[in-house]
This record gives sequence, structure tokens and C-alpha cells, in this order.
Amino acid sequence: MARPARSSGAVLLRDAARLEIAGHHVIVVEDIVDTGLTISALAAALHKLEPASLDVCALIHKHIAGAQPVAIRYKGFDIPDEFVVGYGMDYAERYRNLPGVYRLSPEG
Ligand code: IMP
Repeated sequence: MARPARSSGAVLLRDAARLEIAGHHVIVVEDIVDTGLTISALAAALHKLEPASLDVCALIHKHIAGAQPVAIRYKGFDIPDEFVVGYGMDYAERYRNLPGVYRLSPEG
């Protein structure tokens, strides 16, 4: 199995402007923060809607050399730069149903 690809870096947000969060306290719940691009783009879009506060909760924070820092208020685990699956996280729509978090071996 080839090493799983990193996210493309392109983040497309649809209908964020329709969220009625002005004046509300918002927590964004993410499965895993990898490069941080997804959560940073989402947070920037949500900040424009003027929530009273905006925090991030993530089950896993992957540590990648050179990645932009992301403020995660509520965090489950830190892991090294390895691709993981299970507990809702997938590789090409596979392994999402595994009951724990597993490192995906490049050897398959
Ligand atoms: P980021 O924008 O690089 O932080 O990527 C965040 C998204 O990429 C997550 O919400 C996941 O959907 C996916 N992702 C990143 N790393 C992994 C991984 O190790 N396993 C499964 N999905 C991942």
C-alpha cells in the first residue's frame, strides 16, 4: 500500500454564511488535526460570523514539522506524523468502523 496522501490544502466551505452563530459560544469538533489547514480555514470563516467565542476540540493532533500552529482548546491525544485509521477516521473510506485508533502500515 502506498503511503496515504496528505490533504490537498484546498479547503472548500459551503453555506458557512447561513450558520446563525453570532453571539453564540462555538466549539468546532474535529477528528484529527494534521496540517491544520482545514481547521484554520474553517475558523477564519466562522470568525467572520462574529461568534461570542470559538474554540477547537480534536481527538488527535498530529505533529508535523513546519506545520502552522493550531490552538486546540480541548485535545485527546498527540501523535507523531503517521497516518491513522479507525474510530471514524478512514483511508479511502476504509477502516472507519474499527473500534480503536490504528496506525496504517505502508506495507499493508
Ligand atoms: P488537515 O487540514 O491537514 O489538518 O487535515 C484534516 C483532515 O484530514 C481530517 O479532518 C481528516 O479528515 C484528514 N486526515 C488527516 N490526517 C489523517 C489521518 O491520519 N487519518 C485519517 N484522516 C486524516
